[in-house]
Amino acid sequence: MNLKGKHLIDPNDLTLEELDSVFTLAQDMEKEPAKYENLCSGKILATLFYEPSTRTRLSFESAMLRMGGNILGFADANTSSVRKGESISDTIRVLDGYSDIAVIRHPREGAPKLASNFSAVPVINGGDGGHQHPTQTLTDLLTIKNLKGEIKNLRVALCGDLKYGRTVHSLIKTLSRYEGMSFCLISPPQLKMPSYIKEYVANEYNVEIVETENLEDVINEVDILYMTRIQKERFFNEEDYLKLKNSYILTRDKIKDSRSDMLIMHPLPRVNEIDYSVDDDQRAVYFKQAKYGVYVRMSLMAHLLGVI
Ligand code: CP
Repeated sequence: MNLKGKHLIDPNDLTLEELDSVFTLAQDMEKEPAKYENLCSGKILATLFYEPSTRTRLSFESAMLRMGGNILGFADANTSSVRKGESISDTIRVLDGYSDIAVIRHPREGAPKLASNFSAVPVINGGDGGHQHPTQTLTDLLTIKNLKGEIKNLRVALCGDLKYGRTVHSLIKTLSRYEGMSFCLISPPQLKMPSYIKEYVANEYNVEIVETENLEDVINEVDILYMTRIQKERFFNEEDYLKLKNSYILTRDKIKDSRSDMLIMHPLPRVNEIDYSVDDDQRAVYFKQAKYGVYVRMSLMAHLLGVI
């Protein structure tokens, strides 16, 4: 599988076969990490984060360090020359000379794509505004593959901020490409999944989609419950956020009749949408999910750098 030099901007940049290759290597990297500890020796990852992050930035950094490579970058654009008015296209052209691969998170939709047009090294979209988050989707799919055995014939509920939530936009687009998937979209009317995404997956992949405002309507019939945060930073005014911030709060009581093999997933960070008491339930897998993010990013970078 030759992915050397490719950018990853949208999850559809990878075929199902390429995704499978990324997951297979990620699984081996988890099983036998010593085999890969010098795989990226001499390689440098640049992390350009124009928006806050814990998991995406640090799991990428951990992934590169675990493969013997090095890292540089910024976690706060205010400490970079962006403050002086430098454009993202100039920044990436300069970083080309400093690194072998770059991951960019940006509040503006399309910014990593723009950067990739000017970059001689692979650019990975680490989340662009309310648009896409492809490496979160890789993490989510590896989690499902590891814990369900295969990605097939699953009923998946996506709950919370489906309007601005880039993780769910990328996830539904990608899961729809697998056989026998169906979706329940749970959100307040103000935060519904954009029509262009629903129409795309329905027309392209003929998937069944049900929409509801009530989590209780579907919670006992799904294989995966994917919770998301109501994202304060995406609202234009605080009043609108305050009205919606408590729309969904998952508690132990609410999942008492749910399937015993249901996976409760969340890209994290959470605010209050999953009560802490749920963490002890064996169906709650969001911390495992965050850990799988390291292996899948190791595998992704190894593929894009062409070192495997
Ligand atoms: N899931 C995710 O993207 O988390 P961070 O915002 O902490 O990177």
